[in-house]
Amino acid sequence: MRWTERQQTLLQAMGLRLWAPPGALPAPMPDAGATAAVAAATTAAATAAVTAATAATAAAAAPMAAPTPTPAAVAPGTPAPMAVQPAAAAATAATARSPFPTDSLDWPALRAAVAGCRACGLCDSRRQTVFGVGHARAHCMVVGEAPGEQEDAQGEPFVGAAGQLLDRMLAAVGLGRGDGSPAQQVFIANTLKCRPPRNRNPTPEELAACRPFLQRQVALVQPRLILAMGRFAVQSLLDTDAPIGKLRGTVHHWHGVPLVVTYHPAYLLRQPADKAKAWDDLCLAAELMARQDGGPTAGPTAGQTGGQTGGPNGGPNGRQDGG
Ligand code: URA
Repeated sequence: MRWTERQQTLLQAMGLRLWAPPGALPAPMPDAGATAAVAAATTAAATAAVTAATAATAAAAAPMAAPTPTPAAVAPGTPAPMAVQPAAAAATAATARSPFPTDSLDWPALRAAVAGCRACGLCDSRRQTVFGVGHARAHCMVVGEAPGEQEDAQGEPFVGAAGQLLDRMLAAVGLGRGDGSPAQQVFIANTLKCRPPRNRNPTPEELAACRPFLQRQVALVQPRLILAMGRFAVQSLLDTDAPIGKLRGTVHHWHGVPLVVTYHPAYLLRQPADKAKAWDDLCLAAELMARQDGGPTAGPTAGQTGGQTGGPNGGPNGRQDGG
């Protein structure tokens, strides 16, 4: 099977290199907006043909907890037809089990609640809370683990080395955290809003204490797809200890919202060979979103804050403004 130009572009964006006989590959295209091609990508072929990439070294990786690496021979199957819960119903369900009174909070109130939270011991060591960043009604919500040192200092998630890889991965499927329509932007949040000391793993108690904030964020964003990155995002959202390798490749659901599991970018910095699998996961995520509305560029662009009082970034729809 020949690699399409867009497939090559995606792989290059993720720091993956292809081997192919001379002349077998078409020249790369300058256009990285590749969702349509992503949907058509043959992911099994991707895994087979991609050689181990050499991107960043382990030294460059953020010292996050690594998901348990597994052989993970799971090939993404053809996802079942989308059965997306109506957004309002999903929002209600998302907060129905919240033990904290976050259910009624709008964006500014939720941000304030996070900023003032003292529900666990992490409040004593944090410099600031890291609320989240992105579009208030993004079609895709990315959930990571916890702030690291740089995130704790800057107040924005994924700004270190792992964040740079995440941005490249998202760009490969035409997504970003800057300005744009909700179909083209993501909302990025962590399971924990405060940095654990020395980037140690989150404890079950900390995950439980912070979960209502994440639940409320999902309820407000009403994403069409959740991309859960790494063990702790998966633990928090799917309530399972199963390794990423066992969970990826199939479509899970969180309160009716399709959820795709993939490796944490920090893990990928340490294990670049697994970037091919992460690329498969991104293809699956892009395909699911494309199925819903004909592609990430085809979604609604109006009502970007969904009638909320202010956006998640401190303004109607701006970027994170710190804290
Ligand atoms: N890793 C995460 O999971 N989140 C961040 O914000 C930074 C690194």
